[in-house]
Amino acid sequence: MSDVHVLGVAGSLRLGSLNRALLRAAMKLSPSGMTLETFDLADVPLYNGDVEAAGDPPGVAAFKDAIRAANAVLFVTPEYNHGVPGVMKNAVDWASRPARDAALNAKPVGIIGASPGATGTARGQSQLRQAFEFTNSFCMPQPEVLVFRAHEKFDANGELADAKTAEFLGKYLEALRVWTLRFK
Ligand code: FNR
Repeated sequence: MSDVHVLGVAGSLRLGSLNRALLRAAMKLSPSGMTLETFDLADVPLYNGDVEAAGDPPGVAAFKDAIRAANAVLFVTPEYNHGVPGVMKNAVDWASRPARDAALNAKPVGIIGASPGATGTARGQSQLRQAFEFTNSFCMPQPEVLVFRAHEKFDANGELADAKTAEFLGKYLEALRVWTLRFK
């Protein structure tokens, strides 16, 4: 069976990000038959229709190209104020354009996330899932990865140090591989 190529995107720009750490852990736990590469959103500017009309900035063009080249996209989202952080939503907004030929159109996607709180980005993930209805992306319904009290689950080097989290992250990635193959 052919390999599934997944693009991983973390919705936090900070170096010590728990979500970037979760994405790194996912890269290490990728199952056989899946490759996972990451895209850094640092060079994706704020969406501006005037800028878009003049041509996608390089960071946006690179993001869209990376999505198109991937069989699926894994969004690793923090939660801010019970919602999707602007960095993540902004990237999705760019990738949702142009409406009828968007990089995210008919693309399998997955959502995971980590936060120090008790709900592990549940509300942020729900909100992001809604956006994928409009982008016509095939968002995997189950399983879910909600890494709660995430600051206790990574060591000082940002390595995932919680066996249970590693176990269900591995299962999630295998499910995403199978989900993606449905659309390949
Ligand atoms: C947060 N945080 C947070 N956490 C949460 O579980 N639910 C929330 O609604 C919020 N709201 C919120 C708003 C703002 C403006 C900030 C800066 C933070 C805490 C957040 O989960 C925590 O800072 C994470 O560490 C952010 O993710 P990264 O950067 O570690 O990936």
